Amino acid sequence: MVLYKGPAYRSQAEDTETASKDIYVLPRDAGESERLQAQHDHLRRSLGGLLVHPSIDLNNARIILDCCTGTGAWLKDARLSARPDTILEACDITLEQYHRGTAKADDVFVQNILHRFPGEKRGRYDLIHQRYLTGGISREEWPKAISNVVEALRPGGCFNITEPNLQTSPPSSADPEAIANWKVQLKRISWERNNLIQQCANEIPALMRDAGLINVQTIRLRVPYGATCRALGMTENQVESSIRLHMSPSFDEVLKKLWIASGKGTAEEFDQNQVIYEEFLREKGIWMDVSFVVGLSTQASPKMPPKLKNPPASAFSEPSEPSVHKPEENPKEQLTKPQEENPQVIAQKPGDSENKGTRAEPPQKSKL
Ligand SMILES: C[S@@+](CC[C@H](N)C(=O)[O-])C[C@H]1O[C@@H](n2cnc3c(N)ncnc32)[C@H](O)[C@@H]1O
Repeated sequence: MVLYKGPAYRSQAEDTETASKDIYVLPRDAGESERLQAQHDHLRRSLGGLLVHPSIDLNNARIILDCCTGTGAWLKDARLSARPDTILEACDITLEQYHRGTAKADDVFVQNILHRFPGEKRGRYDLIHQRYLTGGISREEWPKAISNVVEALRPGGCFNITEPNLQTSPPSSADPEAIANWKVQLKRISWERNNLIQQCANEIPALMRDAGLINVQTIRLRVPYGATCRALGMTENQVESSIRLHMSPSFDEVLKKLWIASGKGTAEEFDQNQVIYEEFLREKGIWMDVSFVVGLSTQASPKMPPKLKNPPASAFSEPSEPSVHKPEENPKEQLTKPQEENPQVIAQKPGDSENKGTRAEPPQKSKL
């Protein structure tokens, strides 16, 4: 997880594979890589194996990018769901953690999403997946980050963003114990300091629409931590590992420093609360809201992807090649009568542009 960007916690990494200034604050050691893998396994298990928004068929994507890939844990599973000839690529601001994972992308490259992608990667991807940047991109950076990634999509390509809300829910609304909010309260200090979006699952759909993506659809799911895992039939081992995931030592060390520095309490009080919270998780647990949000790109691309040699009947519709003829060489009468509608506009719900915020939309099949 990417956290506080203050100099006191800045990574020491001088890796040449790191794009520009590295703001990742937690160690990229074996422990943190293990945590990312465990987080992926827990999400997959909790979300019924869903890797992207259900309207996306991974089988139809020819070139996929896992953006901000971390260890590449998602990519490894996506490979199993995609067609054998699908090209899977990965990028991140640094490849330190990727090299600790076991994923095998066809191409992996360094990319800071606050900067534009290189020319050869623009207009390239049928599908881009990006997950868990809530702690790494500030509110004012999100529009730029999304538009840089969208530029890497081919026209009509899909962008899937998966993000959680910071606010978690206790297992029952009749059980509003203060300790249930302990972790949220801690994270809030860091999120506020860095102007990070606290309710990312709620806000991503509007950000995607503002970036010009169309047919934006959201599905909201809930991930259990602690005792709530039992509601999904998970084993006691899985209950315990979800607690360890939620109480990550390196993550909590940063939060502890912030807790003390911001005058919220002492180190002893922090440790006491941690013990009580862990017990609360074991006995009652919490749910974390996560949104899968998908939108389609309409952008004209500076570079069209290569055509399939022998496309099956159901293959993607290819963008037409630019004509060598100028319009003025063959003037045509302007069409003024009712015309066939643009299918991408039909796919957009009426009033969609006003329809910002948290509401989940009825699923519509994307082109993927
Ligand atoms: C919490 S991890 C999630 C990793 C992976 N997406 C997953 O779900 O397992 C966040 C990742 O985003 C990367 N990251 C943070 N800021 C970034 C940026 N500006 N550009 C590209 N990658 C970034 C970090 O290096 C880290 O690998």
